[in-house]
Amino acid sequence: MSAAYNIAIDGPAGAGKSTIAKALAKKLGFVYVDTGAMYRAMGLYFDRQGIRMDDEEGISRACGDIRISIRYEDGTQRVILNGEDVSDRIRTEEVGHLASACSVYAAVRQKLLSLQRDLAASTDVIMDGRDIGTCVLPDAQTKIYLTASVEVRARRRYKELLEKGKESSLAEIEEEIRARDWRDMNREIAPLKQAEDAVYLDSSDMTIGQVIDAILEAASSRGLSPDRTGR
Ligand code: DC
Repeated sequence: MSAAYNIAIDGPAGAGKSTIAKALAKKLGFVYVDTGAMYRAMGLYFDRQGIRMDDEEGISRACGDIRISIRYEDGTQRVILNGEDVSDRIRTEEVGHLASACSVYAAVRQKLLSLQRDLAASTDVIMDGRDIGTCVLPDAQTKIYLTASVEVRARRRYKELLEKGKESSLAEIEEEIRARDWRDMNREIAPLKQAEDAVYLDSSDMTIGQVIDAILEAASSRGLSPDRTGR
């Protein structure tokens, strides 16, 4: 087990992982690592190169030309793709789908694995994604599987878009979420699933505060000291 304390949060798109993880990281003085952003940067690269998402050979070859790193600005993670900060550019639905599509390939996952493990080896991190508890950090002291119903996740996303002034179709968002869930859960390598030792949380009827409390509780029962959790 690493010297650092690691919290792994996995779950489907739109379950609130990043909101929760960011707030917890701030409260605990941990570093928040958003692994989805790394897959998004990879997807953006392939798309810019005109490589189709069903071209596994082309994607695997191109992996050698990609350098992904992250840095922190005022505690916020920035993703750097071959020297360019793409953190803002990758936050679209379209790039989310590109990320999901390219993340099924071994070469893409392999590329990011050591970066993710290195980040957690000597630093207290809260890392979110799809395979953190099952594959990236199997020894994480606290593992959470955070989910919510498709309907609730779609409604949250719809509201978020509306707040940004973007009209969208709730039915379409629901369909997209179902498709992404299916792909993330059914791929051959490192599919999204609950780790055996993960705490299952369904946030459909929980407030952000309640989810944070439940995770703090889990962490304090798994060795995180009371002066960190306030418990
Ligand atoms: O969390 P997100 O929406 O930013 O992730 C985008 C996609 O990246 C997600 O649909 C699947 C992939 N992903 C993954 O395969 N493994 C991770 N640990 C994180 C994300």
